[in-house]
Amino acid sequence: MAQFKLPANSVIGKGKTYYAGAGAKNVKRFQIYRWDPDSGENPRMDTYEVDLAACGPMVLDALLKIKNEVDPTLTFRRSCREGVCGSCAMNIDGTNTLACTKAISDVSGEVKIYPLPHMSVVKDLVPDLTHFYAQYASIKPWLQAITPPPERERLQSEEDRAKLDGLYECILCACCSTSCPSYWWNGERYLGPSILLQAYRWIVDSRDEFTGERLDDLEDPFRLYRCHTIMNCTKTCPKSLNPAKAIAEIKKMMVERR
Ligand code: SF4
Ligand code: SF4
Ligand code: FES
Repeated sequence: MAQFKLPANSVIGKGKTYYAGAGAKNVKRFQIYRWDPDSGENPRMDTYEVDLAACGPMVLDALLKIKNEVDPTLTFRRSCREGVCGSCAMNIDGTNTLACTKAISDVSGEVKIYPLPHMSVVKDLVPDLTHFYAQYASIKPWLQAITPPPERERLQSEEDRAKLDGLYECILCACCSTSCPSYWWNGERYLGPSILLQAYRWIVDSRDEFTGERLDDLEDPFRLYRCHTIMNCTKTCPKSLNPAKAIAEIKKMMVERR
């Protein structure tokens, strides 16, 4: 049987524990992945006890409380705190999701928090999304048309506009792509569910006149066809979108145009 081992410098060690004060009324423990590239040390799991009686309801509230009151070195991304910017995506209790919309009460026992899986880590809970954004740029995520623009906006029928529902809501959080086994193993060349959903968003836009070129760009054994319909992407999307369906629609269009 094949055996896999982490390189010695990737093995996660046991870290420090920060206890809640004596007056804490409702203590919850958070185990959080920590890694500082400047320290030269292995990653570790630090444990923080948080008094939920003095904390907001979401996992992001607990992270902010820890950073503000206990350990200012804890590093993570966040901006909107209402599920719109996508920057607080991380792995919480075994699922990729948004810290700002994940209720602490949804997790029984200790809350384990890791960065998004299978990405290089910049520090602590911050993944390196450079390649992900380069892949996004590669699908040309803007309207392309040869017809000169009308004096006012380019119009769409209500039916054509409705085709964008379930697509335009994507916040590019990368929860889906980093839950996709095909993206884990082939992420250098496979675009992954998030970027393919974005590609489809422009392919079905009735105002875009480069549908053929967009499909040509995806006609490749890796960029599109590494999706094996495992459906992790759709299961994990915190906005309840369906990237697997968008990918299936692109594949269907590929067949229909032959
Ligand atoms: S499809 Fe969902 S999980 Fe994927 S990037 Fe968009 S919002 Fe995030
Ligand atoms: S359906 Fe496709 S994109 Fe989604 S997780 Fe499975 S292989 Fe990845
Ligand atoms: S902070 Fe913006 S989505 Fe969570």
